[in-house]
Amino acid sequence: MTDEGYRFPYPPIPDGWHGIAFADQVSQGQVLPVRALGEDLVVYRDDQDEVHVLEAHCPHLGAHLGHGGKVEGSDLVCPFHGWRWAPDGHCAGIPYSKRIPTNARTRAWPCLERNGFVFVWTHAQGETPTWEIEDIPETHDPDFHVVARQDWPPFRSHPQEISENGVDLPHFKTLHGWTAKSIDWVTDGPVYDMVYEMEAMPERWTQTNAEPYSLQSRTEGPTFTRTRFWGAYRGVSAHCFTPVEPGWIRLMQLYYGHRSQTDEENERWFQASDREWAADIPIWNHKRHLSRPLLAEGDGPVPRFRRWYSQFYSSLEMQSSQGDPQ
Ligand code: FES
Ligand SMILES: [Fe+2]
Repeated sequence: MTDEGYRFPYPPIPDGWHGIAFADQVSQGQVLPVRALGEDLVVYRDDQDEVHVLEAHCPHLGAHLGHGGKVEGSDLVCPFHGWRWAPDGHCAGIPYSKRIPTNARTRAWPCLERNGFVFVWTHAQGETPTWEIEDIPETHDPDFHVVARQDWPPFRSHPQEISENGVDLPHFKTLHGWTAKSIDWVTDGPVYDMVYEMEAMPERWTQTNAEPYSLQSRTEGPTFTRTRFWGAYRGVSAHCFTPVEPGWIRLMQLYYGHRSQTDEENERWFQASDREWAADIPIWNHKRHLSRPLLAEGDGPVPRFRRWYSQFYSSLEMQSSQGDPQ
């Protein structure tokens, strides 16, 4: 990732929950170093199977807890001098010192293990979580299993651009080759639901004489969306598009399919979806964000979408309430 300058008129890290790892990347007693949200983090799983996220570097003398740190009980012990960090970020012990300095704290991130991912909460004004990512029943239903996963190499974009893609009606035809006759876009706080009415799906999605796909997607917060499929295939795909650095996205995806389907059907479903994402990525990677796009009849509800997404920018609200001419 080169530093080519940040090119969006929005804060790089919107407020809310962001997926930073696949949950099965960290098993009990393990520590995983993660770069996400422009920060070095560690994810660890304690002996009760709870996942915690701390700032990676120990505030004592700066060792990285993800390289040699040990999980003990619910704490993470630094490999350098053995200071012990609790899940809430307080220092729970120093092996050679009776007194713990009163300011001995590290940053702990509110986190949530859900739908096969580890999410952390971030908020520009330091607010604690006001909502949660919903549980998707298929992700722990024994009738479903993970049939594919994808972890794309980071590309240049902003999560708002990726989320906006869902309401961009005509691009489904030009870029993806299927016709979305209409979309029904409904918002509810940090969530938006979308039902697509499709006229024709390209061959890669449909088998001869197969039922067409029906799909419905729900986006929760600034960087997570999932799509439920039924008809030709039963499954749910879940997608995190989290900034790894300002202006760079890491796209992590899990595909949960119903067990009644064959490997071939799973593969076809995954490959079809994967090609859709592969078609969008070069556009996102190179596009310029236009604050005042030139829209025509037939475009999706882009201005409404942008007003909805602005709820994740508390730092912009602060600026405008302080009299910024914006
Ligand atoms: S640097 Fe972590 S205990 Fe010293
Ligand atoms: Fe797209």
